[in-house]
Amino acid sequence: MRITVIGLGYLGTVAASGLAKAGHQVAGVDIDALSIQNLQAGEPPIYEPGIREWLTSGIAGGNLDFFPTNEFDRPLGDVALIATGTPAAADGQADLSQVLGALDWIKSREPRNLTLVMKSTVPPGTGRAIAQHELRGLDVHYVANPEFLREGRALEDWMRPDRIVAGADGDSGRGIAALKKMYAGISAPYLLTDITSAEMVKYASNAFLAARISFINEIASLCDQVGASIDAVSEGMAMDARTGQRIRAGVGYGGSCFPKDVQALDYLAQTLGVELDLLRSVAAVNNRQRLMPLDKLRARFQGAVAGLNVGVLGLAFKPGTNDVREAPSVELINSLVAEGAKVQAFDPQANAPARRLLPPGVAFVDRPEQAAHGAQALLLMTEWPEIIKADWPAIARNMRPPKFVFDGRNALDTALMARLGFEYAAVGRGIPDHPTPPGLSD
Ligand SMILES: NC(=O)c1ccc[n+]([C@@H]2O[C@H](COP(=O)([O-])OP(=O)(O)OC[C@H]3O[C@@H](n4cnc5c(N)ncnc54)[C@H](O)[C@@H]3O)[C@@H](O)[C@H]2O)c1
Repeated sequence: MRITVIGLGYLGTVAASGLAKAGHQVAGVDIDALSIQNLQAGEPPIYEPGIREWLTSGIAGGNLDFFPTNEFDRPLGDVALIATGTPAAADGQADLSQVLGALDWIKSREPRNLTLVMKSTVPPGTGRAIAQHELRGLDVHYVANPEFLREGRALEDWMRPDRIVAGADGDSGRGIAALKKMYAGISAPYLLTDITSAEMVKYASNAFLAARISFINEIASLCDQVGASIDAVSEGMAMDARTGQRIRAGVGYGGSCFPKDVQALDYLAQTLGVELDLLRSVAAVNNRQRLMPLDKLRARFQGAVAGLNVGVLGLAFKPGTNDVREAPSVELINSLVAEGAKVQAFDPQANAPARRLLPPGVAFVDRPEQAAHGAQALLLMTEWPEIIKADWPAIARNMRPPKFVFDGRNALDTALMARLGFEYAAVGRGIPDHPTPPGLSD
């Protein structure tokens, strides 16, 4: 098939190179001419394990090309796939300007017998409005096909998705047939539904995953107070098939999807007069959780954060990516600097993108051990293997007393921490005191 992928950020780069790998003739377009230049040279705009190899093999194989949108002079082909961003606007709603820009561009090319695959995450109701109004009278078949890939495992998820959700309205045969042809070779169960339900599957899935994280984080706070271990509690919960996979407590969710999708769903519900109380609490718990490292630091140093030397280990919102959008580390470091702390930060992949978001005084270092140099406190924000397996005896030697380590991802070996003389704190793991439960005090 001939496929045009519009928008070559995280999702679009994976989609374009994945479709080329499957043997399709793929053209990728983006309004960012510099990014196109880099892609043409095999340089991806993101760090994602394996993406460089996919890109270079597609380019070398002659079935993957990149163009700035204004220089694209080919037909759109059988499928146009929209993968532009849908960031949060200031009021929380999804900003659809990139998607609408891509749509205008497609329409300006007078499409014929085209299947438009919407991969971008758009609020429920958007696709139906596009299909009914924007595409009225055009020979275009609209299919909502939300993407569920996880950054850090994007290639694996692209090749072996848990499911393919395809939403189309009315006489949808040709659009769905084109989509199935596009995914030929990928074996996954299909959910065929209407456009709005497909869009809702994506938002509901992200909101539910976010809710699971906030739930375990709330229980972790209580674990600290009663002297229980969240590691054991979450393991025990996961042994019940109904509760889902085990999740780790930590400093909250971030990234380019959960925060904006939770906000956009809440915004949509409000505009329709529906109160999503649970969803709002999910966001509130997460906002509180993200400030936990600062609270722990203030508690340990009696509020005296000014003048402290603090090492921050991990900047990406999770391991396996260099994405720092909505990463808890960014908000944390901005607050630390605002309060007068001196920060040295390390991330194996995200130093460069984080530098663009952080104040000039922050020092970026190339090894975890360097982030510990002269630091009284060390905050672990991303559980990269490079950090977990760092030279912790050297870190202990490099730090100054009290050698306070806050493990914001419950990723470190507590016995090792004790042996090396760190003052160790974590999320629902460390047990500073064991109050007697109410009612049993006498
Ligand atoms: N990043 C992920 O892991 C992921 C996973 C699932 C779903 N999604 C969804 O996919 C969409 C894209 O996310 P992303 O993280 O790849 O975004 P991104 O911001 O990384 O990339 C968007 C790209 O679109 C380009 N663009 C903007 N307007 C354009 C236009 N009119 N024509 C052509 N190109 C244009 C931008 O220059 C940019 O390169 C979002 O809706 C997101 O919610 C993302």
